[in-house]
Amino acid sequence: MKLPEGLAGVIVDQTRISSTKNEILTYAGYPITELKDVPYEEIVFLLWNLRLPTESELVSFRRELVSQMKLPAETVRLMERIAREPQHPMSILRTTVSLLGTTNDNEHDEPPRILAKMLTAVAAIIRIRNDQPIKRSKPDFGVVENFIYLFSGKRPTAEQVKMLNTVMVLHADHEFNASAFTARVVASTQSDYYSCLTTAVCSLKGPLHGGANEQVFKMLETIKQTGQDPLEYVERQLESGQKIMGFGHRVYKHGDPRAAILREIARKISYETGNEAYFEMEEQIRDFMFEKTHLHPNVDYYTAVIYHCFNLDRDTFTTMFAACRTAGWLAHIMEQREEGCLIRPSSEYIGETNRHYHADKEAHLNE
Ligand SMILES: CC(C)(COP(=O)(O)OP(=O)(O)OC[C@H]1O[C@@H](n2cnc3c(N)ncnc32)[C@H](O)[C@@H]1OP(=O)(O)O)[C@@H](O)C(=O)NCCC(=O)NCCS
Repeated sequence: MKLPEGLAGVIVDQTRISSTKNEILTYAGYPITELKDVPYEEIVFLLWNLRLPTESELVSFRRELVSQMKLPAETVRLMERIAREPQHPMSILRTTVSLLGTTNDNEHDEPPRILAKMLTAVAAIIRIRNDQPIKRSKPDFGVVENFIYLFSGKRPTAEQVKMLNTVMVLHADHEFNASAFTARVVASTQSDYYSCLTTAVCSLKGPLHGGANEQVFKMLETIKQTGQDPLEYVERQLESGQKIMGFGHRVYKHGDPRAAILREIARKISYETGNEAYFEMEEQIRDFMFEKTHLHPNVDYYTAVIYHCFNLDRDTFTTMFAACRTAGWLAHIMEQREEGCLIRPSSEYIGETNRHYHADKEAHLNE
């Protein structure tokens, strides 16, 4: 039996969390187009409970998340050391998540506390790498407002909160993508939350998954700094067999619904921050790519410019993706735990057969 390459289209399990059926992204049955402006904490509640919260549930859930946006002192001390190393921020995050799983209170950690710590850890990595002091969350700010404050050190405007909220909602989950599936495999062994999340971060890091947003911006910067024509650059890359990061998708063959929403945010924020040259370059490349390959931009294409407009360094873009996606990872870990069944598929063996050790060793001796 020949399986599709990369298990494309193979249904490996069931989920109630999110779906990309007919190339429409839904969270617990609600289309993403209706959820894009819903507060991130409400989306998290939906992904974890498969229903919308009541007003009072939302207020107390938000309060719970915000009150937990802090890190154990011991973890911060170690982070201060490792986050200054030249390693990639995703490697720092991987080690940080693992470290969080070694603090005294991890036995009592529940998803709200873990998500709050993840957001705080990503913001702290960004601050430490910029030689800036770590900020404390504000009890009167919402989750997204606090997150921006923790990484930028400034109280964001309502417009900035709205834009990043949408980015976070659109990244919150995406059914059985590589990192969620990785987390589910680990969860199926009844391992702990932090072990599952550490492996999810490892999986997201690769440029074929979350690492693409960084590569998109690297391409835009290269084109700008070297003064090349964007279309000639892309054409040369394609001719030499290179993929253009931020294009194509395993599931969406007619366009990523998230990219359409993010495109408008990228347009707005890039003009507001004087970065419109990057956005216009993306527009040119988008049209050219469609003409040449019929490929559409994916979620990572526009977030690259959006994150740049939030003054974030290129190499931290994928840690932002990880921060937003933690909500979905935790939802999948919980669902997998409830299932209580070990994921252990089988493989078709296509190697050599009928070999005999002693006969082959003897043959080697006589060579
Ligand atoms: C996301 C991705 C891995 C999906 O891949 P997939 O479903 O396995 O599709 P394939 O990689 O088999 O691509 C099918 C064809 O389109 C081409 N293609 C896919 N994405 C491409 C891209 N970004 N640039 C150029 N060509 C691309 C492939 O080379 C392949 O061509 P071929 O049939 O001539 O060999 C792939 O599109 C990709 O690598 N994109 C760039 C990385 C990226 O942006 N990742 C973020 C995803 S959200």
